[in-house]
Amino acid sequence: MLHPRPLACIATLLAASAPAAAQPKPPPKAPAVAQTCIACHGIRGVSTTKDSPSLAGQPDIFLQYQLVFMRDGQRQPGVMAGIVKTLTDENIRDLGAYYAALAPPPPFAKAEPVDADKVNAIMGPRRCGNCHKEDFSGQGETARLAGQRPDYLIKSLTDFRAGVRRGRGMGAMMEVSVTLQDEDIAMIAHYLASKP
Ligand code: HEC
Ligand code: HEC
Repeated sequence: MLHPRPLACIATLLAASAPAAAQPKPPPKAPAVAQTCIACHGIRGVSTTKDSPSLAGQPDIFLQYQLVFMRDGQRQPGVMAGIVKTLTDENIRDLGAYYAALAPPPPFAKAEPVDADKVNAIMGPRRCGNCHKEDFSGQGETARLAGQRPDYLIKSLTDFRAGVRRGRGMGAMMEVSVTLQDEDIAMIAHYLASKP
């Protein structure tokens, strides 16, 4: 299923970079290929474009998987179709390391206020925090959600619910989203977007 080469390299990269991640570091240097991402994903990975996700602070392995999925056709690349197929395995490793090392986006300024009890009643039984971490900072192959653009969160949850985006593993995201109503998705999206 997965491309074996990037996976082998993902393991090497993680082993090499794990101890350094604990220290505060100066901002990472952008690989040259990241210039082509700025138009949609923003300067330093914080998006100001509707439906285009912020990448800053996403887990390295999550970013690499998504780029491989889009390059290999397991995830619909949409407007990234032209760019993603030109990326080499080395580009993908560099991009994953770069965006993961950037400061995560601040809470989304225009997130609508949400009733925390209502949203917890929807998210609690679905155990979102078990995989995405309790602070929604993400881990491993699982995305960071805190501070993400609400328009993009709505799009991705709607795609998972419809089975358009299959994602990693056994379709965990399809299972948790299939019973969500549109208004639940909107509430979740604005709640997560407002998180630091
Ligand atoms: C023309 C605009 C555009 C450009 C240029 C672009 N992207 Fe994207 N990218 C998008 C959009 C829109 C999505 C969301 C796709 C969807 O809805 O599934 C996306 C999704 C992604 C994702 C998945 C993120 C997630 O949270 O699931 C990654 C990773 C990504 N892009 C990386 C890159 C990188 C790296 C580059 C530069 C090499 C790049 N993109 C260039 C528009 C763009
Ligand atoms: C069993 C683990 C698991 C649970 C539970 C789970 N997720 Fe996920 N989630 C994942 C994984 C893994 C991905 C990456 C999927 C992929 O590869 O496309 C993901 C992706 C996402 C994305 C797409 C983010 C992006 O940047 O592309 C959103 C949004 C999301 N999850 C929200 C939620 C919400 C809200 C809940 C609870 C209702 C939830 N998740 C529960 C594992 C989980």
